[in-house]
Amino acid sequence: MKVSVIIGGQWGDEGKGKIVDLLGADYNVVVRYQGGANAGHTVEIGDKKYVLHLIPSGILRDNVFSVIGNGVVIEPAALIEELHTLNNLGIATKNRLKISKNAHVIMPYHKILDVAKESGTKKIGTTGRGIGPCYVDKIGREGIRIEDFVDVKNLKSKITTHVKEKNVILEKVYDLKPINVYEVIDNFMGYREVILPFIDDSLAFINAQMKAGKSILLEGAQGTFLDIDHGTYPYVTSSNSTSGGACTGSGIPPTKITSVIGILKAYTTRVGEGPFPTELKDETGEKLRKIGFEFGATTGRPRRCGWFDIPMAKYSVMVNGMTEAVLTKLDVLSEFEKIPVCTAYKCGDTVLDSFPTDIEKLNTAVPVYTELPGWNTDITHCRTYDELPEKAKEYVQYLTDNAGVPFSHVSVGPKREQTIPV
Ligand code: GDP
Ligand code: IMO
Ligand code: MG
Repeated sequence: MKVSVIIGGQWGDEGKGKIVDLLGADYNVVVRYQGGANAGHTVEIGDKKYVLHLIPSGILRDNVFSVIGNGVVIEPAALIEELHTLNNLGIATKNRLKISKNAHVIMPYHKILDVAKESGTKKIGTTGRGIGPCYVDKIGREGIRIEDFVDVKNLKSKITTHVKEKNVILEKVYDLKPINVYEVIDNFMGYREVILPFIDDSLAFINAQMKAGKSILLEGAQGTFLDIDHGTYPYVTSSNSTSGGACTGSGIPPTKITSVIGILKAYTTRVGEGPFPTELKDETGEKLRKIGFEFGATTGRPRRCGWFDIPMAKYSVMVNGMTEAVLTKLDVLSEFEKIPVCTAYKCGDTVLDSFPTDIEKLNTAVPVYTELPGWNTDITHCRTYDELPEKAKEYVQYLTDNAGVPFSHVSVGPKREQTIPV
């Protein structure tokens, strides 16, 4: 029995979806445990492309049962749209998906508040999906949970109370139009019909599966540096996207986790605001964006691009307890003569070889680079490690030695078969 956690090792969009789909073949259950429809996990199978936002990427594997865990925040309309999209693409969801009764619901006012806050001066660059305001209500013990869908009377009453309260904030603080409570209730009665059959006690289900010897894969969203506690606060998301979040967000005890698999992109990207020491604001960054097709899978925003950052990787290995890693998008570097890798930062007169958690230091940190030679040849057709050019292998080895984690696979393209075991 294996219980593995997949986490993003950087600022998200490392290719978690592809790897969950790939490794999913060896697991019985795949669980999403935090975040919401701010995530966009892309999986390419044959000539089909799927973008998952809330539903675990494991749904694409016939042998896998999918669970949306208690740590996820769910916007009902987004979930229903995703269910329809999958069904239209021939992917069945009936009797293959459970939604935790304890997961919180993203309400219309959460999205409005998210966008309203972002229109002020303190911009985070959120996805506008209502994630932050929903987690605020969860932690404030004022949220609406999926279990509230069960009893109609209770659901209507909770919606009425919450919408009335939030309308005061919308009108008085943000000078916005109030929400029509009857419209919300009407919509939610429709959502309820679709969602009801999926609601379950996911904690009991997952633990029973483990007891029966089944293997579980936990699918993280976002990435280490977007973690609410360990990321580049306040430029983070509102959940624990590091490996610890997998336990609280699913109900799996830490003692059951057998491996933590970090997904690291062969360079670095970030969407939204916040510090990014190795960011390239020039034509090289533009080239990485173009070759890597670095545009958000959820919002379509261009991703900021830069070189691989070793201090970040070391921090990520440490805070997640990474037992192994997967290096993705190595093929994107094939067109570069020289590939700089950041090994340390200069902060004033001092040289730091560890990631500064202090945002002021991070803002002024100047990367110190080691230049590695490029391989200048297409590697997307390579299927074994031996087939990779020597210089590509040297790059992988350099990252392994310096980040302090072994790579189990190297990815050289978006498709399942473009993955090389190391
Ligand atoms: P996630 O959020 O971590 O699941 O990643 P995204 O799906 O947001 O972004 C990763 C993008 O890179 C997707 O478009 C994937 O299809 C693509 N991708 C994944 N692995 C590779 C790879 O090794 N090479 C290339 N060129 N693209 C990849
Ligand atoms: P996946 O799972 C990349 C970023 C947003 C913003 C910050 C806060 O596809 O890797 P939020 O809407 O969560 O309140 O926004 O977090 N962000 C992501 N960046 N990949 C993601 O998910 C992200 N989810 C949120 O751009 O900077
Ligand atoms: Mg993504």
